[in-house]
Amino acid sequence: DEIAILLPDPYRILWREKVTSTNDEIRILAGQGMSEGLVLIGEEQTAGRGRRGAAWFSPKGENLAFSVLLRPRAPKHLWSRFSLATGLAVAEGLERFLPMAAIKWPNDVLIDDRKIAGILVEAGADFVIIGIGINVNPEKFPDELLATSLKKECDREISRAEVLLEVLKRLAKYSGRIESDFEELLDGVRQRCALTGKQVKFLQGGNHRSGRVKGIGSSGELLVELNGSIEGIIQADEVRVCS
Ligand code: BTN
Repeated sequence: DEIAILLPDPYRILWREKVTSTNDEIRILAGQGMSEGLVLIGEEQTAGRGRRGAAWFSPKGENLAFSVLLRPRAPKHLWSRFSLATGLAVAEGLERFLPMAAIKWPNDVLIDDRKIAGILVEAGADFVIIGIGINVNPEKFPDELLATSLKKECDREISRAEVLLEVLKRLAKYSGRIESDFEELLDGVRQRCALTGKQVKFLQGGNHRSGRVKGIGSSGELLVELNGSIEGIIQADEVRVCS
């Protein structure tokens, strides 16, 4: 990637050839007192992690795998909103290259129901780690119905540096909106919500539940109609669309 990139404040890039997981390694740097805005890019991850303990594979040189360190001033009970902020930043960033991307609550980014990016937000005592994996240039996936890449969607090689810049610009904007101006963030997420109107099932506290998604509530919760009444789901394991 040969373009010079002008990073929005407060970001700085640390690039590493090989890491276990950028989320794990940036956590160590956070513990050493690194300030907000550090972006750790791993050219290769040997132990990339997804949500719910799944592995995240990113072929060397073809993908973007990076983590961003934040030291939020917003109160901790609002930190779960970083998932939505990141999902929107990634979706909008990818829309510089593609038509509308969808957000599968809370933060998978999909193109035509195929996953193009995954996000893993983790909190420490006084920091938040935002891990982002974007399928930029791979052409083959174990299951072509489940995943896609920018290259496959655009039919051309895409610059990883450009994608990174487009996402960071928007992350700078939306990570500042989890407390004030959250409504604007929500609007962006609602417009792209892949689940609204769909019948879904999910596991919550060990219970299997299913219902129809009504939308996203004012705190970012998923509104699901369950046995005739609407409940706001704040946290759930993977939400699956029933076919
Ligand atoms: C998911 O969809 O389950 C989330 C995937 C998150 C992957 C990214 S890649 C960069 C960062 N480091 C990790 O180990 N995971 C995240």
